Amino acid sequence: MKITKCLFPAAGYGTRFLPVTKAMPKEMLPILTKPLIQYGVEEAVEAGMNTMAIITGRGKRAIEDHFDISYELENQIKGTSKEHLLTEIRDLISKCTFTYTRQVEMKGLGDAILKGEALIGHEPFGVVLADDLCINPGDDGVLKQMIALNDKYRCSVVAIMEVPEDQTYKYGVIDGKEIEDGVFMISDMVEKPEPDEAPSNLAIIGRYILTPEIFDVIRQTKPGKNGELQITDALMNLARDGMVLAYKFKGNRFDCGSVEGYVEATNHLHQLENSEG
Ligand code: G1P
Repeated sequence: MKITKCLFPAAGYGTRFLPVTKAMPKEMLPILTKPLIQYGVEEAVEAGMNTMAIITGRGKRAIEDHFDISYELENQIKGTSKEHLLTEIRDLISKCTFTYTRQVEMKGLGDAILKGEALIGHEPFGVVLADDLCINPGDDGVLKQMIALNDKYRCSVVAIMEVPEDQTYKYGVIDGKEIEDGVFMISDMVEKPEPDEAPSNLAIIGRYILTPEIFDVIRQTKPGKNGELQITDALMNLARDGMVLAYKFKGNRFDCGSVEGYVEATNHLHQLENSEG
């Protein structure tokens, strides 16, 4: 079954970026001239998806406006030298359908994903956490790489990368058996473990391909770390009964949820743009 839908949990407050995120969604923070979430949508489109299901919350309306036509602006800019600046986003909008629902209370990533059930239905889907910006210039994006793996094994897949051992407390961390180069069958998964409790240094990043049974599994999963419903715990429950894969993706990932990663991404993409001319 072709994967056409991608879920974007985007209800979080972005407290690490206060005060800028007081009145602006963190997903709208720009990297050069595009907001973070646009990079995620572009990655999903490149992977063959065309339905973007966005989980929003209060104060997130700018996201909906971004993926819509602004007639006033179109009118102002028409026929001027600046018109081309809208070409890329117009093109993206024309390729996709955007659907939205609100997560009313912040009860964790598992809960946010469960809120997407009505938008996704009973089919496999992608999940993008927009503050993880992933690029792989000139080659397949991370979601596309993961879809190829889902095609082969027909199960849920999480993207992972190696992190320094003292950084495990920021991520879901997996353990598993390597069944092919860079592909692990998950045997353990812990949400944000301290280094001495981490099963490895293989950390989950914000890209998932999930099969639809995850919704029932989330419903049966108890709140975990910080009293929140964690997708990591739900996936561990799924892995116990079947198979969940972790995939060491090819490309670069920037943690744009932190100021340091955000600056790094900005510099990296600026350099890339300059080198492309
Ligand atoms: C979430 C997940 C975590 C994952 C991380 C990737 O955490 O809960 O398992 O490693 O995204 O960015 P968050 O960064 O939202 O706290």
